[in-house]
Amino acid sequence: MLKRRSFLGYFSIGWLTACFPVVLAACAPNKADTQATKQTDSPVSDDKSASAKTTEGFKVVGSTAQLEKMGSLQIAGVAVARDPANSKKLVAVNSKCTHTGCEVKWLAGEKRYRCPCHDAEFAADGKVLNGPAPSPLATYPVKVVGTQVLVKV
Ligand code: FES
Repeated sequence: MLKRRSFLGYFSIGWLTACFPVVLAACAPNKADTQATKQTDSPVSDDKSASAKTTEGFKVVGSTAQLEKMGSLQIAGVAVARDPANSKKLVAVNSKCTHTGCEVKWLAGEKRYRCPCHDAEFAADGKVLNGPAPSPLATYPVKVVGTQVLVKV
């Protein structure tokens, strides 16, 4: 005959053994949750795809339709505009001002970049037109593939 203390010991071990698989299942990642997470993540990655897709080091910065509509494309430290001297040529520049790093903005009417912080101005190809910027904006290779504008940063 089992004594009370032995019975409780066996009962505890049995109970832990029975519950262990349930605890493991509760802690394991759920496939449905993982798939749901992937599905909810995909729109975010689609949003980033315009800037994240790469082809041989080139990143998509926008479409030619966006470029025509807005006069320039500006995303993640890169700006693209048509060369005023040759409208078929695109020029991509680093959009961080060389003075203290503010983001320059393209002025479509004036066909130049202006820094909002201290009014430095840059040509479409990045050359300094008006200070205080000490040096031109860096330029990047740019190309059009289909309807997409790609820049190699
Ligand atoms: Fe651009 Fe000063 S940061 S002019």
